[in-house]
Amino acid sequence: MDSREIRQRFLAFFEKRGHAVIPSSSLVPENDPSVLFNTAGMQPLVPYLMGTPHPSGKRLANSQKCVRTQDIEEVGDKTHDTFFEMLGNWSLGDYFKEDAIKWSFEFLTSKEEGLGLDPARLYVTVFEGNDDAPRDEEAFAIWKKYMPENRIYFMSAKSNWWSPGDNGPCGPDTEMFYDVTERGLGDMTKDEYMTADNRQDIVEIWNDVFMEYEKKSGRVSGRLAMKNVDTGSGLERVVMATQGKDNVFYTDLFLPIMQKIGDLAAGGQPTDAKNIRAARIVADHVRTGVMMIADGVRPSNTDQGYILRRLLRRAVRYADMLGVGKGMLSELVPIIAEKYKGIYDNVSAMEGAIVKEIWEEEDKFRKTLERGTKELTRLFEEKIISGEDAFRLFSTYGFPIEMTEELAAEQGVSVDRAQFDIEFKKHQALSREGSGQKFKGGLADASEKTTKLHTATHLMLAGLRKYLGEGVHQAGSNITEERLRFDFTYPEKVPREILDKVEAYVNEAISKGCMVLIEQMKKEEAKAKGVEGSFWEKYPDVVNVYSVVAPDGTAYSAELCGGPHVEQTKNMGHFKIIKEEASSSGVRRIKAVLA
Ligand code: SER
Repeated sequence: MDSREIRQRFLAFFEKRGHAVIPSSSLVPENDPSVLFNTAGMQPLVPYLMGTPHPSGKRLANSQKCVRTQDIEEVGDKTHDTFFEMLGNWSLGDYFKEDAIKWSFEFLTSKEEGLGLDPARLYVTVFEGNDDAPRDEEAFAIWKKYMPENRIYFMSAKSNWWSPGDNGPCGPDTEMFYDVTERGLGDMTKDEYMTADNRQDIVEIWNDVFMEYEKKSGRVSGRLAMKNVDTGSGLERVVMATQGKDNVFYTDLFLPIMQKIGDLAAGGQPTDAKNIRAARIVADHVRTGVMMIADGVRPSNTDQGYILRRLLRRAVRYADMLGVGKGMLSELVPIIAEKYKGIYDNVSAMEGAIVKEIWEEEDKFRKTLERGTKELTRLFEEKIISGEDAFRLFSTYGFPIEMTEELAAEQGVSVDRAQFDIEFKKHQALSREGSGQKFKGGLADASEKTTKLHTATHLMLAGLRKYLGEGVHQAGSNITEERLRFDFTYPEKVPREILDKVEAYVNEAISKGCMVLIEQMKKEEAKAKGVEGSFWEKYPDVVNVYSVVAPDGTAYSAELCGGPHVEQTKNMGHFKIIKEEASSSGVRRIKAVLA
């Protein structure tokens, strides 16, 4: 069974059990400044897990594109990759533990409808309980219907409590592991199971989170209004288990890429451990880069663009180790695009642009690499590289700090990272990864300030369309607690008089104390009504339309959205556009605040 069939079987299995299959969201979260990339299938669904009705109902399933880079050093082992797809089924206050566990087990083991995995190779963990929630005897009792008791282990919150950050829905989980060894491990004590996990002899392939709690500022604060199920199953890993491999790079998702890297490498297919690791890193990082570019990210020194830059530059270094010819990384693009034809068609649709971006980034990097390496070699004469020097390598030669650290570590030299971070802040190159914050996970930052700015964004777009015409659409949005930043399609500079009018439009709506209404309607109906939306194809057949309507009936905005928004506009503050500038060709950028 190849990855395509596995993904398809998963969706069909849950569709048959009453789930609406919804499309993957973009890798880059919309309206959620707390994370740079979606790191789990549940992330774009947070508003619905918190209680907003989902237009497609209470049972959902999909395959969500995700990026996690906190384990980047582990890439090259058997199971880690920075891009992955998460298969997920959700119950939004509908079914709970009984069905969730039954269906996970059935899908994994059924030959007819599922993956036909060997139940004798499955191991399960459940939550052992703590001050926040009791020992999950319920999940344990359900599992006993399917599994021998001695292969179900009670584990602490460290491994069996799932929350995506310090705020939002969370709960105990039950995880499924699969034995990928050739001979099979048989029954294991809990200690043996933990050792097998560390050795990657068993691999986590599925996680059912029973989301009935809420976290606020890092503490479990109480129960949610409803009991949800959030399941996640890493596609790469289930493909590996199903194909009888012990390594994701041996699955059909990676084999053609690995093959091509071998073809491009001076020494052919790598055979020693060091080169095998290098080839896997190249395969992983380029694949992730391709998916990021397809979702609109471009290499830069900040935010998402910085992560992309770092991955591509790291790939260049490892490709060099293998003797892959200069400028050849982009040759992997068509192979990756082919894998996602019919699944994420934006990849093949943008193939040419992706090739160009990767080629250019490689070229740019090479131009500075040589000079930078000379400089770095000189710095290796010291035991420690100062923060100022590390920053100069970054700003002058484009060396991501993590790369400098890696190269230095290979020479037994350390880097003054704390000082580097200070330099970095001083120069206002806002790498959010540097602080680590965005990568610990985090949630839709539904704080009051961002929520207000989000509603202001809708009003502003409506105002822009009113005064600049219907050709204006959203091209990007990024909201922090301080300001909104909004990209939109428009060919030339917007005169200040127009910006003043847009401001007045927004402030009028605010002062009238408009209500924000959520209405569910068919996509076609919404389109016909003139509802604004820029990514129609990404939404399910039934959509949530957010309208801002004054008590006198004036409708100020109607737009497709996932929320969150204020309930009414009265206390939003005074809206002010502080900057209007070019963003890219045909796209303008506005920064605005609520004072
Ligand atoms: N949120 C859980 C995870 O990421 C299950 O989807 O593992």
